[in-house]
Amino acid sequence: MAVEPQSTQTCVITRPDDWHLHLREGALLKKVLPDTASVFARAIIMPNLRPPVTTVDRAVAYRDEICQALLLSDAQQRSFEPLMTLYLTEQTTAQEIKKAAECPFIHAVKLYPAGATTNADAGVRDIRQAYAALEAMQTHGLPLLMHGEVVDPDIDIFDREAVFIDRVLTPLMKDLPELTMVMEHITTEVAVDFVKAGPDHLGATITAHHLLLNRNAMFDGGLRPHHYCLPLIKREKHRQALVAIATSGHPRFFLGTDSAPHPQGAKESACGCAGIYTARDAMGFYAEVFDQANALDKLEGFASLFGADFYGLPRNQDRIALHRIPREIPETVDFGEVTGVPLRAGGQVAWTVNLC
Ligand code: DOR
Ligand code: ZN
Repeated sequence: MAVEPQSTQTCVITRPDDWHLHLREGALLKKVLPDTASVFARAIIMPNLRPPVTTVDRAVAYRDEICQALLLSDAQQRSFEPLMTLYLTEQTTAQEIKKAAECPFIHAVKLYPAGATTNADAGVRDIRQAYAALEAMQTHGLPLLMHGEVVDPDIDIFDREAVFIDRVLTPLMKDLPELTMVMEHITTEVAVDFVKAGPDHLGATITAHHLLLNRNAMFDGGLRPHHYCLPLIKREKHRQALVAIATSGHPRFFLGTDSAPHPQGAKESACGCAGIYTARDAMGFYAEVFDQANALDKLEGFASLFGADFYGLPRNQDRIALHRIPREIPETVDFGEVTGVPLRAGGQVAWTVNLC
């Protein structure tokens, strides 16, 4: 459905979903969950906990924890559905995949190349060792979500995504031609072109930060740990390619924030960890990007329709209104026992969201 006739000040769209989200556990989960659940109707929940969510039983228990946290939160009056994922390892069995496919709460399996990012050490070293599970996923129609980067130290860190496409994804698609796959948080023109040229069952998510920032933002007047995420933000031509495809109305590119909360101290450190916290203002950030590209009429497809269609889930019925009214972003946010620093801390986002 098209965006309602609008002044340039307000835009009403179907309530969006976040197809890539980190919620963590415990006190942190309780604090970050309302930021997502108050705006988004559903989210694909990443399984890179410590230890990772490698079994159906663990995914169901994690879902229970999220639902409990939701009951206690301010967002409780709105429906929010966590869509759970399993963490793929070289030990994941075809039997566990079958069980996951039969579980109504599990919607995908996540591939982390071992060591590629936060809590990825239990991930996959050699993709061939995961073939029994991947074949079962193809058989049972369970999508593979990919952190699409190689970790070979000989490869320049800015080239990790392009080399993943060559060395891992291309052979995988030949071997498993019917496997539904999503390249998560794509960052380069190479990935845009590859997914665009791919089959209908190959999709991609795009974060707000990769649409808003280029790699200069990591070094703007000094080292900026709050702009450090993986895959790294790339040079301007790649950002422009991401904006072009996100705002084009292409149905296989959709919203995934990759909002990833870390304690302030763990980011502002000699070895700061990867992840950008965007959940609180995610829709405002995306609206800025689409507005700047004169493509607000394409925001609804990207944020609220294409992901659901790709996953074969019903579209949301409720709506949100985006108003071009600036909203302050705090210097820090409460992460329970610690504080966190959101994207653009101390600044403003140009759009404010209300549920209709
Ligand atoms: O920047 C990132 N942070 N990228 C990821 O892939 C993981 C995430 C996290 O869990 O912190
Ligand atoms: Zn992620």
